[in-house]
Amino acid sequence: MNAPHILLIDDEAIALANLTHVLEREGYRVTACRDGQTGLAALAAGDIDVVLTDLRMPGIDGLEVLHRVRADRPDVPVIVITGHAAVDSAVEAMKAGAYHYLAKPFRLAEARELVRSALEFARLKRENRELRHRVEGLKNPYTIVTQDLAMQRLLETARRVAGTDASVVIQGESGTGKELLARYIHQHSRRSAGPFVAFNCGALTEELAAAELFGHEKGAYTGAVARRVGLIEAAAGGTLFLDEVAELAPSVQVKLLRALQEREVLRLGAVTPVPVDVRVIAASNRDLRQLVESGGMRADLYFRLNVVNLALPPLRERRDDIPLLAYHFLRKFAAAMDRPVCTIAPEALTHLTEYDYPGNVRELANFIERGVALAEGEVLGKEHLPQHLGRLAVRVYAPPLATAPKTLQEQERELILQALQLAGGNRSEAARMLGIDRVSLWRKLKKYGLYGR
Ligand SMILES: Nc1ncnc2c1ncn2[C@@H]1O[C@H](COP(=O)(O)OP(=O)(O)OP(=O)(O)O)[C@@H](O)[C@H]1O
Ligand SMILES: [Mg+2]
Repeated sequence: MNAPHILLIDDEAIALANLTHVLEREGYRVTACRDGQTGLAALAAGDIDVVLTDLRMPGIDGLEVLHRVRADRPDVPVIVITGHAAVDSAVEAMKAGAYHYLAKPFRLAEARELVRSALEFARLKRENRELRHRVEGLKNPYTIVTQDLAMQRLLETARRVAGTDASVVIQGESGTGKELLARYIHQHSRRSAGPFVAFNCGALTEELAAAELFGHEKGAYTGAVARRVGLIEAAAGGTLFLDEVAELAPSVQVKLLRALQEREVLRLGAVTPVPVDVRVIAASNRDLRQLVESGGMRADLYFRLNVVNLALPPLRERRDDIPLLAYHFLRKFAAAMDRPVCTIAPEALTHLTEYDYPGNVRELANFIERGVALAEGEVLGKEHLPQHLGRLAVRVYAPPLATAPKTLQEQERELILQALQLAGGNRSEAARMLGIDRVSLWRKLKKYGLYGR
């Protein structure tokens, strides 16, 4: 079973044997080493939970072990064993970040208690961090969740671009996260304290869209009873997000281009333009270049906007993100609805990962939101997902021709890896996600050579 793993390092054979005996009797797994060198090797190789090391040893001594553990595995508590009346070294070790010290001669029961409390300490620290992550994720609604390499590269580019004032075009199917990415860029820019103003270019008629974007003076047209500041001006110092930019009427496209080039806005009915400082991010779920070619969008506006082009891949092209996103939304909606649901049943997760998502991330979010509302206990099962999911999965999901379909064992191995990753390496949690007990998980880890990961 997944018993805590204790690393013991002591050059005295008898002390080492005694401690090993006591700790093994507690049910721990113990790796005993006679010197620091071997100890550090064991640390690098294994899933050590606590280190217990003698301070004075030939070669790599306990203090050096302590430093290395603090640097490489800061979550692993280190208990140092100090010699008779070696108060100075105990103090030094504590300063260097030891969890505690054991002064020789010590009772074995004392060592046992210290190890137990160190394990508890590490567990609390881990839980604490997980909670903090969750809370931060919930506090910031604009977190972009992904483990996909292409997406991570895209985010890296986005962060680099964010530091400049360059216009950006974001392309992607509906629900891929275009607006989210636009907010991400805004947040990473020097304009983050300024406004983020979003405008859906397809939602209004030509006249209303122009009035909305550029504003108007009093009496500019019938119904303009007061002066009104437009959205471009409202975004001054910040970011203007133009959603579905290709839907703008040609006349409005011309005015927009002029405003961007001159960095000033002419309100309807006004004679003097107002200078504005905005960064524009435009989005579309259509291929803008093609639209330009077919005359649907002005080429000059396109080139003005398309300084940087970011293409968001559809969700079905980054399936590894599905479980990650599913759990992200599960936490989010469970917290929002105050529901105890915290796990997705393996079968449900399979259905989710095999579906094709024409509506991309938004569609997945909707599935989970609905599932959280329907689930009564802690588990979101396949019965809480739309029925067509399981059936569609088989039909829609065809693996790329060049690769052979994965065997069940390969799939199982992948699911286990995913669960471990989602659980931050916590095996009990991973087992719970997978709906199996810890012993079964342990057997599977062995079987797939994942033990120690
Ligand atoms: N990688 C992601 N991580 C977390 N949430 C995401 C991610 N991608 C999208 N979302 C969420 O999915 C929903 C849809 O995203 P968004 O509105 O940004 O998509 P869009 O591409 O602008 O869609 P549309 O084309 O329909 O306007 C939002 O609630 C968004 O927060
Ligand atoms: Mg959008």
